[in-house]
Amino acid sequence: MNGASSTLIADNKQVELAVRPGTIGPSVVDISKLYAQTGMFTYDPGFTSTAACESQITYIDGDEGILLYRGYPIEQLAEHGDFLETCYLLLYGELPTAAQKADFDYRVTRHTMVHDQMNRFFQGFRRDAHPMAIMVASVGALSAFYHDSTDISDPHQRMVASMRMIAKIPTLAAMAYKYSIGQPFVYPQNHLDFTSNFLRMCFAVPAEEYKVNPVLSRALDRIFILHADHEQNASTSTVRLAGSSGANPFACIAAGVACLWGPAHGGANEAALKMLEEIGTPDRIPLYVNKAKDKNDAFRLMGFGHRVYKNYDPRARIMQKTTHEVLNELGIKDDPLLDVAIELEQFALKDEYFLEKKLYPNIDFYSGITLKAMGFPTSMFTVLFALARTVGWIAQWKEMIEDPSQKIGRPRQLYTGATRRDYLTIAQRA
Ligand code: SDX
Repeated sequence: MNGASSTLIADNKQVELAVRPGTIGPSVVDISKLYAQTGMFTYDPGFTSTAACESQITYIDGDEGILLYRGYPIEQLAEHGDFLETCYLLLYGELPTAAQKADFDYRVTRHTMVHDQMNRFFQGFRRDAHPMAIMVASVGALSAFYHDSTDISDPHQRMVASMRMIAKIPTLAAMAYKYSIGQPFVYPQNHLDFTSNFLRMCFAVPAEEYKVNPVLSRALDRIFILHADHEQNASTSTVRLAGSSGANPFACIAAGVACLWGPAHGGANEAALKMLEEIGTPDRIPLYVNKAKDKNDAFRLMGFGHRVYKNYDPRARIMQKTTHEVLNELGIKDDPLLDVAIELEQFALKDEYFLEKKLYPNIDFYSGITLKAMGFPTSMFTVLFALARTVGWIAQWKEMIEDPSQKIGRPRQLYTGATRRDYLTIAQRA
């Protein structure tokens, strides 16, 4: 492979394939003409070696444990910025000036209410419905309430739909929580910042004043920053593929919510906390680590491992620091779950299996402990992940829609099924 191209010899055919470098990270071999030139497909289930698109939003170096949003290290954004600043950066590519930030905050704040008939939409759910089921349904239902921002060919409507989702999905998330505990919905308050507003919509009750704890609000805002985007992960790829057909933005984000729910992806924060609760005490850690290593046991250490990170997930480090901050603020001195988590991490990271397979804690390992301490039930953990990831999904969807070379995504396959055969009547069948 030389700088500009690579030579492939397949089926006695020799083809030259262009090699395209990125600004940082791996180059790509452009195989878009491979089928036309060779009559063959590439084969890469799970897309372990496949770049599905070109993007300028997020860069991950899995070996070095680096995560950049539009070139800015996640550590610096989490330390110095707030979530809406990160939203602006992901959507528009630059950090906002003071005036741009004020305008963006103002516009998001004034889109936080949902159409009041959404309340009746919620009444159709059982009270014990999983909040993620409610989120899949209600995010998709936004396209039934906001017809005036579903035309993806209109940049203004795309912008309005984007602002509506960033602003309204926290309101829907809070409504899903309130509905599940039988408490009345709490309307947003425009004088509160994004995350304080969300905390109040979740935990305020009509019977008394609710005072936002600034330490918890800052911690949750930082958690949202950590979850905002992550390159071409499964749910983002789902949003891009749904969007490539021209589906409206609300439907595409609903598809992302559905994909995120899986325990191998965003559902891992809920699964990780349940795993820590099942382990219960540090003396049971070896049993579970051995189960995770046993090829015949489907059990995996939830919150461990990552398709890209073969080093410590930089978000997990910040998450761990935030966990201690929140527990200190709440006066929780010895959280048994945190003790198990810290012991489990130390045990696993000394174990040959985890070292050899480069399995480290990921963002989902510590987030559950923090969110539980803040008062969220386990069933809300992935909802919070979806709330934060909405801006990443939208930024990636916007980038795809605005890409002039964009076309509908339509992968092919390696067919190993039956060859052609004629129909048999039922009498002819054995
Ligand atoms: C997220 O893609 C993203 O960026 C996702 C995300 C984002 O921000 O969008 O970062 C969010 O989804 C984080 C990941 C949360 N999921 C979990 O914590 C679930 C537990 N982790 C695993 O299911 C797994 O590590 C994945 C799904 C995260 C990654 O799976 P891969 O890349 O397909 O890796 P693999 O399954 O091929 O595993 C490689 C090897 C296998 O062993 P061998 O078959 O090679 O012998 O490592 C083993 C796996 O069995 N392995 C684990 C393990 N994770 C992988 N063994 C025990 N415990 C684990 N957690």
